[in-house]
Amino acid sequence: MLNRNFESASRDYVQEIEKTLEMLLPESSRDFADGEIPGNLCRAMRYSLLAGGKRIRPMLLLAVSDMLCGSHDNALVPAAALEMIHTYSLIHDDLPGMDNDDLRRGKPTNHVVFGEGQAILAGDGLLNYAYECMLKEAMHSPAALQRSVKAISCIASAAGVTGMIAGQCIDLLSEHQVPSEEILRYIHTHKTADLLTAPLLAAAALCGATDEEESALRRYGLCVGIAFQIDDDLLDVTGDAAILGKKTGMDAEREKMTWPSLVGVEAARNESKRLWQEAEDALSIFGESAWFLKKMAENLSGRQK
Ligand code: IPE
Ligand code: IPE
Ligand code: MG
Ligand code: MG
Ligand code: MG
Repeated sequence: MLNRNFESASRDYVQEIEKTLEMLLPESSRDFADGEIPGNLCRAMRYSLLAGGKRIRPMLLLAVSDMLCGSHDNALVPAAALEMIHTYSLIHDDLPGMDNDDLRRGKPTNHVVFGEGQAILAGDGLLNYAYECMLKEAMHSPAALQRSVKAISCIASAAGVTGMIAGQCIDLLSEHQVPSEEILRYIHTHKTADLLTAPLLAAAALCGATDEEESALRRYGLCVGIAFQIDDDLLDVTGDAAILGKKTGMDAEREKMTWPSLVGVEAARNESKRLWQEAEDALSIFGESAWFLKKMAENLSGRQK
């Protein structure tokens, strides 16, 4: 990518991501028909998927592909699929049995609009469809099959039972408990950092990155992920719901284990600042070519949404 202006580069990435999502999941008008997604299920999936969102994870996948292999054509479907998986995790995270939230991406949550059963299926649908899309795409280019399978495997592990789902499990079990740094680091690493590291490792796999490049990206992803979740916890205390597009004050209400609940707002801010800096430091081996990832960290570190 020749365009080195962060704002316009990220706008271009988001546009391509939205276009790919629309192409992979077009409207389905019929209530039911063999071989088609039932109309209601499709509407519920599209409702949350196309409701906006910062598209950080897919953007990272495209940016690392550009950085390591100079193009991102074969990264678009995995990027869109990762956004489907992220969106499923949000739909389920908001369910009454989990965080019980009624506002997301500035709109009523999926279960508020479609009912709990359909929202569960919309989440399941997005999760499964993500893999269908990635596998179909991988089968179309047999020459790159091995790299594609490695990328899909990175995403599956990050989203799975030792990754995001594990983090969400301990997050729920830690409600009403006395905060502990060890538990909190585990929760943040898995519920959030794993899905933010997945696009980096998936792109590294698609481009055949070296071990050294892979481990630098892994360190960047871990720091970005934990800092991102500390900031999310902070925004729940100090943020503006109208800007965030989700309600604030919910973590305290549910007695969630969060960084502010462990050390207070000021110390949480300091820890997040330290991690954002460490994330940028991790990129040193890439030199100038990591400009987008560096800008991304700078931009996210002051985010209000
Ligand atoms: C929200 O993720 C869930 C967390 C990991 C804190 P984002 O803040 O990336 O949400 P969207 O995709 O922009 O809505
Ligand atoms: C959610 O963490 C992480 C995942 C959805 C995997 P939170 O529960 O803090 O996210 P928000 O605040 O609802 O977006
Ligand atoms: Mg949650
Ligand atoms: Mg939540
Ligand atoms: Mg939160």
